[in-house]
Amino acid sequence: MRNVTVVGAQWGDEGKGKVVDLYSSSAKFIVRYQGGNNAGHTLVVNGKKTVLHLIPSGVLHPGRTCLIANGVVFDPTVFFEEIDSLIASGVFKGPAHESVKVSERAHVILPYHRQLDKLREETKLKGGKIGTTVRGIGPAYEDKVARRGIQVVDLLRPYLLHNKLERAIEEKNVLLKHHFNAEPIKLEPIFQACVALGERLKPFVADVRGILVQAMKNKEPILFEGAQGTLLDVDHGTYPYVTSSNTIAGGAMTGSGVGGQATGQVIGITKAYTTRVGTGPFPTEIETTEKTTAEEIRRIGAEFGATTGRPRRVGWLDLVALKYAVEVNGLTGLAFMKADVLQGFPEVRVCTSYKLNGQTLHDLPSCIEDLESVEPVYETLPGWKAYDTKGVRRAEDLPRELRDYMKKVEAFLGVPIVLLSVGPGREETLEISDPFR
Ligand code: GDP
Ligand code: IMO
Ligand code: MG
Repeated sequence: MRNVTVVGAQWGDEGKGKVVDLYSSSAKFIVRYQGGNNAGHTLVVNGKKTVLHLIPSGVLHPGRTCLIANGVVFDPTVFFEEIDSLIASGVFKGPAHESVKVSERAHVILPYHRQLDKLREETKLKGGKIGTTVRGIGPAYEDKVARRGIQVVDLLRPYLLHNKLERAIEEKNVLLKHHFNAEPIKLEPIFQACVALGERLKPFVADVRGILVQAMKNKEPILFEGAQGTLLDVDHGTYPYVTSSNTIAGGAMTGSGVGGQATGQVIGITKAYTTRVGTGPFPTEIETTEKTTAEEIRRIGAEFGATTGRPRRVGWLDLVALKYAVEVNGLTGLAFMKADVLQGFPEVRVCTSYKLNGQTLHDLPSCIEDLESVEPVYETLPGWKAYDTKGVRRAEDLPRELRDYMKKVEAFLGVPIVLLSVGPGREETLEISDPFR
């Protein structure tokens, strides 16, 4: 058995939750390694929908251990909301802390991070708004990099925590008072809340990296679950319209403290089209150019954010951006999602290059203003008729036009499609090959 890393190959919401849930049947450990509760990963099992923001998407499989590693920014309040809701649904067979562990080194999202995220979004000048999820993700990562973050381990040591909080808050109060004209943060209530959360968190806290080292020694399969998507990566995405973590496969190594060998096969999740939620360039967006088609895809694909409920912007498949995702993640396979959504359209389009000032580009330009100005160059392919997606058991059962569409994608990217998804449910899947073997 090998390990597998699942990453979003686009701008997030590709269907990572569904794929991680499926692949968890082959894994013993499922690891979230970056991001936080900005993620919304949807699982549909026997018609029942579960949306997870922080807890790894393997949690519905009994006997698995779900790990939240050091690279995650961890909101303890959201964590307990999620744990309580899973307990209420009867997901855990024993105590929840036997199935879910949180790294001592993960950084904690505190109320002032959420407050700053909101204030920044509200006061950004026109055009500068990122359209964040307002969960405090960016400000928490800022504190981590600025070396004044609070880690999970600090919540368990009140005698150290008070000083650290004081240091963390000092500058923020200057910012709140003089820049945002807002009330200053009061330390004591935050300190008391942290101590109480720390008490409850104790049995969940672990040396996650150590657990992974032991798992590797025992040759127990590990599944690394990425959040967000490649083009939201802080280093390699459409900066500054990105999230604040490394969403690419490399993030699995830094975010969980394992070496390169450990992350194994890297499966990029992509929809058969593209969506983006929040602001920022999106070359193949069709919201204004093909308004009716965009609305149809959004309606059929239920393209509304799993975290914020915002309508997702819709566009055709961007093979230039996907080729970039293949390169920066070292993808070894693709999971091709939501192919059912495109059925019945007379034709479908894929973007194979961009035009900028009369020149043809085969790669994403680095300058964001250039990316905002590119014109997509499309190839139009015949669509496929509606078919019984539930009846699909073999690739040969698929409409020929859909198979041709998939072949086009594989040939352009040089990476095989290892999984085809034709509906939100676990069973609405064609597993073409198994990345664990
Ligand atoms: P994630 O953030 O990558 O885990 O994706 P989200 O859960 O935010 O969004 C994906 C949405 O598409 C969810 O509502 C899934 O239930 C749904 N979904 C996943 N795969 C398919 C599919 O093949 N077809 C359809 N129609 N829906 C799907
Ligand atoms: P999953 O894991 C889609 C987007 C936000 C915004 C930008 C920065 O469900 O695919 P942040 O709150 O992270 O500072 O927001 O990133 N974003 C996502 N878009 N899916 C996600 O997660 C996202 N997480 C953040 O909309 O544009
Ligand atoms: Mg999502």
